[in-house]
Amino acid sequence: MSHAIGIFDSGVGGLTVYKELARLLPNQNFVYLGDTGRVPYGTKSPATVRRYAREAANFLSRHGVKMLVVACNTASAVALEELRQQFALPVIGVIEPGAERAVTLSKNSRIGVIGTEGTIKSGAYSAAIHRLNPDAAVFSTPCPLFVPLAEEGWAHHRIAHLAAEEYLAPLLAENIDTLVLGCTHYPLLKQTLEQVVGSEVRLVDSAAATAEAVRALLPNDTSPFEKEGRFYVTDVPTRFEQVGSAFLGAPLTCVEQVELA
Ligand code: DGL
Repeated sequence: MSHAIGIFDSGVGGLTVYKELARLLPNQNFVYLGDTGRVPYGTKSPATVRRYAREAANFLSRHGVKMLVVACNTASAVALEELRQQFALPVIGVIEPGAERAVTLSKNSRIGVIGTEGTIKSGAYSAAIHRLNPDAAVFSTPCPLFVPLAEEGWAHHRIAHLAAEEYLAPLLAENIDTLVLGCTHYPLLKQTLEQVVGSEVRLVDSAAATAEAVRALLPNDTSPFEKEGRFYVTDVPTRFEQVGSAFLGAPLTCVEQVELA
C-alpha cells in the first residue's frame, strides 16, 4: 500500500501512537508493524534494538510508505539517527515531540521522565530536553512494571497505583512540575498517574505529541483513493488482536503474521 504512513513498535504499545494519528489524520492510510515475536525492546541492548528497528523499517519501506513513525520510545531512543541516515524518508520518533512539549509546559524547568530501562539508560529524553533548555533539571526513572500492568488491563488497579507511588516518589521529591510518559504503554495509566502526582504536575503524553508533529509535516491531509489500514505482527496475531483491541477501544481484526528477515 503506497502513500501510507508506516508505523512500527515492538508490539501493541505503538497502538497508542496509531490511535492519536488516526484521530488527527482521518484521511491518511497507515501500515502498522508490531514486532511481537521479539517484544520487549525495553530490556534489550541498544545494538539489538537497532538491528530490530532496521529490519522493521526495511519491511515498511518495502511497502512503499511515505514516512516512518518510530512509535516505540526505546527504538526512538537508540535507533532514530541510524534510521534517518539509512532511509530516504522522513523518520519521526516519539522522543523529540515529547521533550518539546515538556519544555513548553514546564514552568520551573524541573522535568521528570519515565520509560523502559533502555530508554532511561540511553539518556535520550534528557539530551533532547537539554538541547531545548540547557538549564532544565531532568529526573528519570524506569518503570518496567507499567508495561505488563497495562497489557493485563490493570492500568487502574490498586497494584498499578502502588507501583506508581513507589516509582514516582523520588521524582516528586525533586519538585518536578512536568512528567513525560516516555513509553508507549504509559498513556493507558494516565488516570492512575494523575492521581499519584496530583494536580500540580502536568503529564506529557509522547504519543499525542508525536501525532501532532506528524500532522505538522502533512498540512494537507488529502483523501487517499481507497481508505485502508494494515496491521502486521511477527508472532501469531491472537494476543496482539486481544490486547490491541483493549488499547484502541475498538476491535482489531485482520492482523497478518509476517517474517522480517
Ligand atoms: N514500546 C516500548 C517503548 O515504548 C515498550 C515495550 C517494550 O519494552 O518493548 O519503549
